Amino acid sequence: MNGEFEAANALSFENVSKAYDAGVGLRFALRGVSFVVKPARRVAVVGRSGSGKSTLLHLAAGIDVPTDGVVRVGRRDLSALSEEARTKLRRDEVGLIFQFFYLMPHLPVADNVALPAMIAGEKPRLYRTRVMELLERVDLAGRAGDPVQKLSGGEQQRVAICRALLRRPGLLLADEPTGNLDDENGRRVMDLMMELVENEGATLVYVTHSREFATLADEVWELHSGELSHPSSPCAPA
Ligand SMILES: Nc1ncnc2c1ncn2[C@@H]1O[C@H](COP(=O)(O)OP(=O)(O)OP(=O)(O)O)[C@@H](O)[C@H]1O
Ligand SMILES: [Mg+2]
Repeated sequence: MNGEFEAANALSFENVSKAYDAGVGLRFALRGVSFVVKPARRVAVVGRSGSGKSTLLHLAAGIDVPTDGVVRVGRRDLSALSEEARTKLRRDEVGLIFQFFYLMPHLPVADNVALPAMIAGEKPRLYRTRVMELLERVDLAGRAGDPVQKLSGGEQQRVAICRALLRRPGLLLADEPTGNLDDENGRRVMDLMMELVENEGATLVYVTHSREFATLADEVWELHSGELSHPSSPCAPA
């Protein structure tokens, strides 16, 4: 689809469907979904419960593979990659943020942020400064040595955002990052996520149930029973 000299999209779906075996036949979580996300764009995905939002993010992250169609991160077709290559891509090039923060409760805040680098076998001197810079930016540098379980929900989500951005992923995917937070903390987390993504020049796709938070994006997309409409995008793909 892309010419050789054309800048790659950060993420694209080409006629993507995902079906699950529902016992009595297939249930489609996504149907014929096509879109492109240009680098550094911020896209909010909204839709009712069960409309396919998490499925879309899981496919974008290569956690799952489509039943049909092509998912590309940059120029790479995720279905053409081995499980191992997809895991590496997720570790190095895609940042993930979830509603439940999935931090290591007993580990210090700084180690939680550093985890992706530790797993990649990097030497601490290569990531220490980056960890502290990120924590500084979310106002948690003073808590670097505390076990993460001592932090509030909003603070824990800020730690999770730092962890997701540690390795400078080009693409950040967030599934209801404020879903577990009150309004005030949710707003703070959203503002920080937007600010960090902009500073890093990353591309962001986030799922939200909040109309208010959706308006922070460049584009808002809506899923209805697995089908995507682009209400705020003037040029939806054919
Ligand atoms: N692993 C699975 N096995 C079977 N069905 C699944 C699986 N994952 C998702 N589904 C089904 O796919 C549909 C879409 O699910 P998905 O989790 O993407 O929805 P969602 O929009 O994220 O909902 P919510 O807002 O509640 O998180 C649902 O009908 C769900 O039951
Ligand atoms: Mg979901």
